[in-house]
Amino acid sequence: MAFKRLLAVLTAAISLGAVQGVAVEKRATCSNGKTVSASSCCAWFNVLSDIQENLFNGGQCGAEAHESIRLVFHDSIAISPAMEAAGQFGGGGADGSIMIFDEIETNFHPNIGLDEIVRLQKPFVQKHGVTPGDFIAFAGAVALSNCPGAPQMNFFTGRAPATQAAPDGLVPEPFHTVDQIIDRVGDAGEFDELELVWMLSAHSIAAANDVDPTTQGLPFDSTPGIFDSQFFVETQLAGTGFPASANNQGEVTSPLAGEMRLQSDFLIARDARTACEWQSFVNNQSKLVSDFQFIFLALTQLGQDPTVMTDCSDVIPISKPAPANTPGFSFFPAGKTMADVEQACAETPFPTLSTLPGPQTSVARIQPPPGA
Ligand code: HEM
Ligand SMILES: *[C@@H]1O[C@H](CO)[C@@H](O)[C@H](O)[C@H]1NC(C)=O
Repeated sequence: MAFKRLLAVLTAAISLGAVQGVAVEKRATCSNGKTVSASSCCAWFNVLSDIQENLFNGGQCGAEAHESIRLVFHDSIAISPAMEAAGQFGGGGADGSIMIFDEIETNFHPNIGLDEIVRLQKPFVQKHGVTPGDFIAFAGAVALSNCPGAPQMNFFTGRAPATQAAPDGLVPEPFHTVDQIIDRVGDAGEFDELELVWMLSAHSIAAANDVDPTTQGLPFDSTPGIFDSQFFVETQLAGTGFPASANNQGEVTSPLAGEMRLQSDFLIARDARTACEWQSFVNNQSKLVSDFQFIFLALTQLGQDPTVMTDCSDVIPISKPAPANTPGFSFFPAGKTMADVEQACAETPFPTLSTLPGPQTSVARIQPPPGA
């Protein structure tokens, strides 16, 4: 939990700054009239309008947004203090190496399909003269702001361009065991198993496109355009393709038609170490939002020194509110009830949810980006 300790130190430093009247108050007004913490942040407003229009199709939470969020994880998690301790290069974390050395890193098995979003993002990096690491973090934060229900995202600049490709083997795969995945995130950022669950909230706005090319655009929950807790409800439902077949790539069917489930999500939802945290997001949108806001920032700062980065969070648009389907935002999809829940948390009963009315329908596919 080094990050949390660091954050505590940082928070103390910032409040000290506030007392002395430095560092925290906004210092620059950009030509669009917006106030930011440093004048260097102003240039990002041009990047913002460009990518909202020309990458995210007018600010959509669609396939390009989803892939941009996935790219943040696959760039940043590629860091291994354990390898460094063993005298090897362990990767630079959130350093843009996946874009700078894309011909190496997008060929790594877990990065399958990310060549696509790297190819779409690169022209914006060149045009605006920003570093790939900063751009990947920015595009991820803006992508999230396009997904109703997402937290208010933070964005810090200052990632120097990577000078080396990350080594292979550092990005979790859906066929890995829970132990392997817990160990990997523990090595990368001293994240614990609860923080692993927090980061997996990203699968609320996600689909499978690449691991199995025959199942393009199959979402991980029934609301892939909304950052909500349905992912945590629906992964807990009984009736699935697990265990997967012999040539297991870790993507299995879900009991909801049209939906895909990762074996790793299935297992983490049911593991004694993680099941209660998984369930804690059901009917608790405010917990979902605050935990993900924290962990996403942590991911985007892996391998970086946050104390020398510039806070440009003011550039990130205000997130759209989630539609209030039910008071706590969670529901059972049509045809599903409490009887379908494979409850795995031993401490707390599964929350009582209402079932969406109507017949069981198939979850709609996500449209892949043109040319995918
Ligand atoms: C830790 C274990 C994780 C595993 C094993 C995993 C694995 C996967 C796999 C296999 C896919 C589908 C790829 C495809 O077939 O196209 C996927 C999609 C995705 N993942 Fe993860 N992931 C993990 C964590 C994360 C984290 C921490 C984030 C972000 C913070 C993330 C964000 C996404 C997103 C947004 C997608 C959807 C991409 C799209 O719709 O095109 N994942 N993940
Ligand atoms: C939501 O989570 C927070 C933080 O864990 C907790 O304090 C609160 O009681 C939860 N709310 C509900 C309705 O479960």
